[in-house]
Amino acid sequence: MDGNGRWATARGRRRELGHRAGARSVERVVRCAPDLGIRTLTLYAFSSDNWRRPQREVRALMALFRRYLRRESGALADAGVRLRVVGRRDRLPTPVVEAITEAEARTSDGDRLLLRLAVDYSSRHVLLEAARRFAEGVSDSFTECIAQAMHCPEGAPDVDLMVRTGGEQRLSDFLLWESAYAELVFSPRMWPDFDASDLTSAVKEFRGRNRRFGRVAAAV
Ligand code: IPE
Ligand code: MG
Repeated sequence: MDGNGRWATARGRRRELGHRAGARSVERVVRCAPDLGIRTLTLYAFSSDNWRRPQREVRALMALFRRYLRRESGALADAGVRLRVVGRRDRLPTPVVEAITEAEARTSDGDRLLLRLAVDYSSRHVLLEAARRFAEGVSDSFTECIAQAMHCPEGAPDVDLMVRTGGEQRLSDFLLWESAYAELVFSPRMWPDFDASDLTSAVKEFRGRNRRFGRVAAAV
């Protein structure tokens, strides 16, 4: 979800306002995802490298996560959405960790959509943590070790489609292992402007792709 800051700056507003608009975009996209056949949606909300942003912006983002979790968990539960916050917990402010625990418990029956919100997430960190578990023999499935390392008991499925908004074309430490065969779609749209029709176009683009997974077309 890229482009919140630029969206706000282009309107002569502070970056924090862009993040607030971005949260409304999340609500829209989450609502329409199941109708497009999406069963798992992972949103990259805060990368472990985002701690390097000005303290004021980081604080505003943490407050926004907490508010979003508090305010939205009831609606998510009603919509059949199960929420998992994937990423590190040890560096988040305590009220945010509490809001995560409550929201995950409240939405635990959701079976329409698994919504994974990546907060203080770094794919490289998850991979190191997973490798440590794997070496210790915690599980003989590396994917299972990844799922555990990212606090997602539902698993760590391969990514089918990765969409990045905001015009940048890079992965930025997001789901690196799981994206080995992901189809990539880069949208010029700033995240606060990204809506149901943009997600629909991305899915349509995905459906038109020829996925071979290393084989030749006829065998797939
Ligand atoms: C993405 O928007 C949201 C977060 C990383 C929290 P940005 O904040 O990266 O927006 P730009 O890239 O500065 O426009
Ligand atoms: Mg950005």
